[in-house]
Amino acid sequence: MNGVTILSTGTALPKRCVTNDELSKTVDTSDEWIRQRSGIGCRYMCGENENTYTMAIEAGRKAIEKAGINKEDIALVAITTSSSDYLFPMNASMVQAGLGLNEEIMSFDLTAACSGLIYAIELARGYLTMNNKKYALIIGSEHLTRITDYTDRSTCILFGDAGGAIIVGLNEGAAYANKQWTRGNFDVLWCAGASGNGQKIHMDGKEVFKFAVGAMDQGIREALEASGQTLDDVKYIICHQANLRIIDHVKKRYKGYEDKFFSNIERYANTSTASIPIVLEELFDKGELNKGDKIILVGFGAGLVWGSAFIEL
Ligand code: UT7
Repeated sequence: MNGVTILSTGTALPKRCVTNDELSKTVDTSDEWIRQRSGIGCRYMCGENENTYTMAIEAGRKAIEKAGINKEDIALVAITTSSSDYLFPMNASMVQAGLGLNEEIMSFDLTAACSGLIYAIELARGYLTMNNKKYALIIGSEHLTRITDYTDRSTCILFGDAGGAIIVGLNEGAAYANKQWTRGNFDVLWCAGASGNGQKIHMDGKEVFKFAVGAMDQGIREALEASGQTLDDVKYIICHQANLRIIDHVKKRYKGYEDKFFSNIERYANTSTASIPIVLEELFDKGELNKGDKIILVGFGAGLVWGSAFIEL
């Protein structure tokens, strides 16, 4: 069975960074409350001429440049997003044009909330394997502040805007597993689409929190089981960055392995599908991740959906 490797990453951030103190000027909250309950210190917010598409293009372009590949060899482009600029055309087709990618390409947008990137990795692996192709470009891009309700203080403090891209290629013989779950639910986390009603994020934070801890724990355990690996083999467990307290609760279930969990939510807040590539980029840039390292990616989100991937780089 083929595994996959991540050849490179690229990220894109809006120009404006909003600290908790700045947010507190318009929302009834405080830096202390937000830090204590979520670990978040600031978030980026799109301004004029910045949106899901522009961030996707920037992140994708950087990932292609860093990978040093011929873009003709990209056979699939997937944009994972819950905050598409348009219902159609899909972001992936606009990114194909914007980045000058092949027309002979599999392109699609994928909405699996914050698990989108993990789902897309598995689809890319299957497609590249079946069609004997080289690379897939997967981009998580989110303009979440556009659909954030700033009159709901328990929700609005969490979200930020960003784009994060990865180039994925096949890795023959490498350890690999990818697990996905879905439990349809309209109540705890939703945002209307073409129905037009309630085009803001609605969230029952406590319910999402409880679900998230169990889902991430299951994702980690089953990724290990399915790949036949142990925690000792793993360099990093990279969780979707939704709330530092959620990650801390999961960590408690992995005594002795706490240092394998990494978080940078303090600087970006919850950027949904962009959060995992942003962490990957930071770890690659610091030299903390290298060829041959084994990692687990794990995410959860609206749907409800959750998923995990075991990857040998
Ligand atoms: O990608 C997935 C997205 N979603 C998530 O991951 C969300 C998961 N859930 C959470 O992160 C947490 O539930 C929140 C951070 C959203 C909220 O934390 P909480 O500990 O569940 O707080 P709470 O909603 O139960 O509120 C506790 C108190 C309430 O006051 P009283 O009733 O105890 O007097 C709230 O009114 O905190 C109050 N509160 C705030 N105070 C200051 C709620 N939001 C704020 C705020 N600033 N922003």
